Amino acid sequence: MRMQAAIMFEQGKPRPYAQSHALEIETVELEGPGPGEVLIEVAAAGLCHSDLSAIEGIRPRPLPVVIGHEGAGIVRECGEGVTDLKPGDHVITVFVASCGTCRYCVRGRSNICPAGNAARAAGTLMSGAKRISRLNGEKINHGSGLSLFAQYGVMARRSMVKIDKSIPLEDAAIFGCAVMTGAGAVLNTAKMQAGDVIAVVGLGGVGMNALFAAVAGGAERIIAVDANPEKLGLARQWGATDAFLATEADVVEQIRAATDGGVDTVVETAGNIKAMELAYAITARGGRVVSAGLPAQGANFSYMHSGLVSDEKSILGSYMGSCVAERDIPRFLGLYQRGKLPVGSLKSGFLPLAEINAGFDRLSDGTVLRQVLRPNM
Ligand SMILES: NC(=O)c1ccc[n+]([C@@H]2O[C@H](COP(=O)([O-])OP(=O)(O)OC[C@H]3O[C@@H](n4cnc5c(N)ncnc54)[C@H](O)[C@@H]3O)[C@@H](O)[C@H]2O)c1
Ligand SMILES: [Zn+2]
Ligand SMILES: [Zn+2]
Repeated sequence: MRMQAAIMFEQGKPRPYAQSHALEIETVELEGPGPGEVLIEVAAAGLCHSDLSAIEGIRPRPLPVVIGHEGAGIVRECGEGVTDLKPGDHVITVFVASCGTCRYCVRGRSNICPAGNAARAAGTLMSGAKRISRLNGEKINHGSGLSLFAQYGVMARRSMVKIDKSIPLEDAAIFGCAVMTGAGAVLNTAKMQAGDVIAVVGLGGVGMNALFAAVAGGAERIIAVDANPEKLGLARQWGATDAFLATEADVVEQIRAATDGGVDTVVETAGNIKAMELAYAITARGGRVVSAGLPAQGANFSYMHSGLVSDEKSILGSYMGSCVAERDIPRFLGLYQRGKLPVGSLKSGFLPLAEINAGFDRLSDGTVLRQVLRPNM
């Protein structure tokens, strides 16, 4: 079938992206679903900072590619062997494809499935297929086994979780990345418990979900840190007990003084080494840093090793919030339905495909939380 998609032919185009056309809207051909695959109509797709990092070129991708890895849609066709979904079902997409049988998948760590990772690096679906091509026949790579910046998508059955039709698809989309990553970092990777003191460094779409989860999970104190004062105001409104501006020269001393020597659990959701250094510096003796931010490929974080040992600090990576999508999406949706994860309040407006580049300009400016693309609008 023919459809419109936003294609990235080149990384590192200059800003403003609305002028340089970092993503180009083109009519492309989408093949139908192969065995174990599903065709969905993309109802909504969030603009995540990871997509922006791909556009900036700080995280390399096989090109040309259709990116977009946070979304929700409606099943239109099931490939051979897919018997548990039917046309009309609503789904949330999962940005890490997984095999379901490797040693990671069987131990509840499908978020780091090596086969999923290999497919992602190769720009293919789990089956090895590339289902999108230009009208001249040139194959287009898939982003995250999904390619959601398009009107339709074909992806592995395991790259989606069925949801109830009562959930608005524009909110559901945000669960595909920001909610799993932010809430999962707090509740899964950090295993936060009621009464804990926690800090969130970087209050974007991901960080605000970490904050919501900390509130829902009963944190005693929540210290919000961002470089943008407007984000601090919102964080206070949404349950942060303390807020600090990362750009102040003595911010580390301020936070350490306010928290009797540091914070037990610090979640870094900013995505740069400076933020990670701040997160590590405000971590208390015996405490841990959970890092979900993704800085430039190859960037290194360093720390004084003897201090890590004598202070018994821990540094943990958190990919897709250590989530098992089939387990955690229903769990987080349950919190959302009871008003505990007010994900809908993160929406900063809807975009048609034609405005996607302007959307990335705004994300780069830091003036928005989650903009939601509606490619069939
Ligand atoms: N680990 C994962 O699975 C995963 C998934 C999704 C996104 N990410 C990454 O998470 C990060 C955040 O994504 P997002 O979509 O929420 O981005 P965003 O642009 O919406 O938010 C980033 C926030 O960090 C703040 N910030 C920047 N530098 C800072 C600093 N030095 N100190 C404090 N705050 C600072 C910004 O002001 C902004 O509010 C990105 O690096 C993204 O690539 C990781
Ligand atoms: Zn993302
Ligand atoms: Zn696996």
